[in-house]
Amino acid sequence: MGAGRAINPFYHTGVADLLVLYYSAGGSVRRMAELVAEGIERAPGAAARLRTVPGMSSHEKSVPSAGPPYCELGDLEECAGLALGSPTRFGNMAAPLKAFWDGTGLLWQRGTLAELNATRTGGTPYGASHFAGMGDDQPISDAERALCVAQGKRLAEIALQLAK
Ligand SMILES: Cc1cc2nc3c(=O)[nH]c(=O)nc-3n(C[C@H](O)[C@H](O)[C@H](O)COP(=O)(O)O)c2cc1C
Repeated sequence: MGAGRAINPFYHTGVADLLVLYYSAGGSVRRMAELVAEGIERAPGAAARLRTVPGMSSHEKSVPSAGPPYCELGDLEECAGLALGSPTRFGNMAAPLKAFWDGTGLLWQRGTLAELNATRTGGTPYGASHFAGMGDDQPISDAERALCVAQGKRLAEIALQLAK
């Protein structure tokens, strides 16, 4: 999750919630998500928040009849990390999960997930990028440069934590 989050439950409760968000049609990804959640719960100071998304049918209920609740935008705001699980559909994320992410525009605009509002040419939710132009003639912009540096810093900080 991005650096601009307004809420960080870790500081309030001493426990970091990690969101395990999945969609599953046949049950395999659901079982994997449950196991990931089990692993999270084994780490002291971490708690798993298991969430799913509704299918694409117009008859889908607003509340699931069984299993974990549907994910809300607040879950993304409140959790310190994310594990995302989807069945592969022709090489892509399954549509129900994609539909959920397509509805998170407000969080991107607010800078809750990542600060990407200033760049005009580069930067994606997945990491740094650069628009090189049709003739490979565009210089790396200030925003693109800042995003590369921020990504390197974040990588180093996580690696240092893992190395401890
Ligand atoms: C329409 C459709 C497209 C699929 N495309 C792929 C694919 O491109 N690559 C792949 O490895 N599996 C593909 N699969 C298999 C699914 O990934 C597999 O059914 C899924 O992992 C099962 O997870 P679940 O039990 O949680 O639903 C496809 C399945 C369906 C129904």
